[in-house]
Amino acid sequence: MIIPPQRITVNPNVLQDLERLLSSGQLSFDKNVKRFEDEWARYCGRKYCVTTNSCTSALEIAIRAMDIPKDKRIVVPTNTYGATVQACWNAGYTVELVDIEPDMNMDITKIDWGDDIGLILPVFIGGNVPLRTQELCERAYDNDIPMLADSAHAHGVKDATNYSDITCFSFYATKLMTTFGEGGCLVTDDEDIAEFARQYRHHGRTGEGMFWTHRGPGANMCMTEAQAVVGLSQLTELDRFLANRRKIASIYNQEFEPVFENGNYYKYLVKGTPSIRKKGITLASPVYPTPIHKHPFWRGNKRYPVADHECPNHFCLPIYNDMTPEEANYVMDNVEVVK
Ligand SMILES: Cc1ncc(COP(=O)(O)O)c(C=O)c1O
Repeated sequence: MIIPPQRITVNPNVLQDLERLLSSGQLSFDKNVKRFEDEWARYCGRKYCVTTNSCTSALEIAIRAMDIPKDKRIVVPTNTYGATVQACWNAGYTVELVDIEPDMNMDITKIDWGDDIGLILPVFIGGNVPLRTQELCERAYDNDIPMLADSAHAHGVKDATNYSDITCFSFYATKLMTTFGEGGCLVTDDEDIAEFARQYRHHGRTGEGMFWTHRGPGANMCMTEAQAVVGLSQLTELDRFLANRRKIASIYNQEFEPVFENGNYYKYLVKGTPSIRKKGITLASPVYPTPIHKHPFWRGNKRYPVADHECPNHFCLPIYNDMTPEEANYVMDNVEVVK
């Protein structure tokens, strides 16, 4: 049996929707982007969604929208993808990395709550919102520091948007749902933040069609109509995708001890080193084997011993939206953990 690291599920009806879109000639800023934003905001239980071309862009815009003094630092766990840190840098801020706990989430006891912290940016690794996010949120609130969640992995996780002023998602090809390979968005209840984001992603513009005004700084970070069409189709199936992942995880749970048990199973993380008995099985990519402070783009001497030990010491079993129980059983029978 061939088990790829991931598999994308696309409803064939989307082809008709795309054909209709192409013949309409309205490829950007039309009703599909607006509809996708309304529906994703509703799904997340937030007032506003602003789509972008990626989660990296959404994070950058979110940070810019918060208008934090430029001499403040942004707190980020060292166990994340480079995009989290690059978004902070792109917005003009310095990053303070924090070590993790053995469960792969930020160790909130290691945050140095000095006056120069401007923003706390937790990352919901593997689609899991850590239980201590509530405590983190309370500490941030007590210190009058805003929170921005990097929820690139946490689609459909009930409380993913509950702890932060703004939450960002990725719709990259390998995520739980995609908008044609690339895409992202932010959600918020703050009307001013949503308005800033709408303008910034589109050259700082307001206005419709041929008449507009450039009101401030901006870029071109927009989602296309075709991306939104695919996103709308994926969104109608998201609950089914989530349910299937939970079913597959319950099969894996008979043999493995997952690091995260309450998330969306974007990743099924297992500690240790894998041994694969059959050739056709390819594991999913880990999140992330090399912490940020070990990449050459990072300049700094601070040590992060838990991340150094834990990040390279895990692997991710293949899991996808339409994985069958037969496939999961085959993986379970042929992958072993070497401690
Ligand atoms: C934790 C995290 N944040 C941000 C991003 C960036 O997402 P995008 O590729 O949509 O820019 C990723 C991408 O995988 C990610 O894993």
